[in-house]
Amino acid sequence: MHIFSGIMALALSIAVPFGSAAPVPDDSIKPRFNWNKIKYVYAFGDSYTFVGGTQGYPKFSFIGSAFNFSYTPQQLLEDEIQLNVTGSDGASWLEYLTGCFQGRPAECAPRQLWDFAFSGADVDKTLIPLHHNFSVDLVDQVREWALFASDVIPHPAEETITAFWIGINDTGDTLNNSTLDFKAFWELEMQSLFGAVQNAYNHNLRGTYLFMTLPPLERSPDHIGTAIAPLYEQNIKDYNTALLNHTAHFARTHPDVNVLTFDTHQWFYDILDNAEQYGFTNITGFCQCSDPAFFWFNTGHPTARVHSLLAEAVETELKKAAGL
Ligand SMILES: *[C@@H]1O[C@H](CO)[C@@H](O)[C@H](O)[C@H]1NC(C)=O
Ligand SMILES: *[C@@H]1O[C@H](CO)[C@@H](O)[C@H](O)[C@H]1NC(C)=O
Ligand SMILES: *[C@@H]1O[C@H](CO)[C@@H](O)[C@H](O)[C@H]1NC(C)=O
Ligand SMILES: *[C@@H]1O[C@H](CO)[C@@H](O)[C@H](O)[C@H]1NC(C)=O
Ligand SMILES: *[C@@H]1O[C@H](CO)[C@@H](O)[C@H](O)[C@H]1NC(C)=O
Ligand SMILES: *[C@@H]1O[C@H](CO)[C@@H](O)[C@H](O)[C@H]1NC(C)=O
Ligand SMILES: *[C@@H]1O[C@H](CO)[C@@H](O)[C@H](O)[C@H]1NC(C)=O
Ligand SMILES: *[C@@H]1O[C@H](CO)[C@@H](O)[C@H](O)[C@H]1NC(C)=O
Repeated sequence: MHIFSGIMALALSIAVPFGSAAPVPDDSIKPRFNWNKIKYVYAFGDSYTFVGGTQGYPKFSFIGSAFNFSYTPQQLLEDEIQLNVTGSDGASWLEYLTGCFQGRPAECAPRQLWDFAFSGADVDKTLIPLHHNFSVDLVDQVREWALFASDVIPHPAEETITAFWIGINDTGDTLNNSTLDFKAFWELEMQSLFGAVQNAYNHNLRGTYLFMTLPPLERSPDHIGTAIAPLYEQNIKDYNTALLNHTAHFARTHPDVNVLTFDTHQWFYDILDNAEQYGFTNITGFCQCSDPAFFWFNTGHPTARVHSLLAEAVETELKKAAGL
């Protein structure tokens, strides 16, 4: 992994604002972040992040759907993660990161994975229509968590990290819309996204927040080399710029939480540009198989092996952020 050393130092950083005029956040009120003490990993997002659960919508979620919006404490606590029910039919990055691959999250050690991501989720159904009538967008994932989970599963600040990884479907769903002012649209999306983050915060989800940037989907098998790829590339970069701006703003205005970012975009580039060093000999096609030569599992999702490498890279940065 040594080729990352230059870039990865920047990839995950405390999102404090630039500029000497900015007030210095009062770090004394931040919980200490120590990855080794983290016991609860919460997540919100889309197919890159979801894991299947016995109480979820089959192959879309760990728990709930638009038609099963509420759940009881018992359903939540008895819900079991289903092995390899993910966007790549293998383990996902958060399963590798937590070691929580199967069964009840509360029985996982050393870390519990509480994953509220929904496959195919956009940020906000008032901005982009739901993919299916049973889909749960990110705003509602957090709303559901706040209503039905926040008082049921623990989230002590020093033992909790919450990941947000969203926008993959949003940038894909809007790509063909020739009348859309994209930059203005990403700003609207950020207002919804950070409204949801604030909702989580208001329900006492504190500790550490981790925001993941969007990967370069213009390099995925169904877009690489197409006429629309340059626009896709630009939209993803602009979305990421808006995300990092709002992340910095959130950090500035919430000095009592740790705010980290992981630059998934740069990380994907590093792997794709140095693919052979990682044993990937096919980065343009895909294979719904376990052949380690393939980077892509299908037209828009990386393989379980990529998820495993991503988890390693994220963990390395989390340890660095904790000074380990
Ligand atoms: C709601 O979830 C339960 C399992 O928790 C399932 O049996 C039922 O079919 C679901 N209903 C809908 C409409 O998805
Ligand atoms: C689950 O996925 C992993 C790869 O992430 C694979 O190594 C393992 O064989 C799969 N297990 C089953 C039972 O399919
Ligand atoms: C968005 O979500 C759907 C699932 O509803 C998935 O099949 C599709 O590939 C995703 N789109 C992108 C651009 O990843
Ligand atoms: C949801 O959509 C499916 C397929 O489009 C349809 O058959 C079903 O009736 C819809 N359910 C509701 C409650 O609208
Ligand atoms: C965008 O247009 C392309 C080419 O017509 C099509 O293949 C693709 O499915 C469209 N994407 C969406 C999200 O509608
Ligand atoms: C394109 O964006 C415009 C402006 O936001 C919106 O009104 C329209 O419904 C979108 N079109 C499609 C096909 O999504
Ligand atoms: C950055 O985010 C803030 C609010 O968080 C917003 O007011 C500002 O317009 C954004 N800056 C740019 C350049 O979009
Ligand atoms: C990558 O895989 C695809 C699908 O199997 C195949 O068509 C293509 O030739 C492969 N490319 C390389 C460079 O091996």
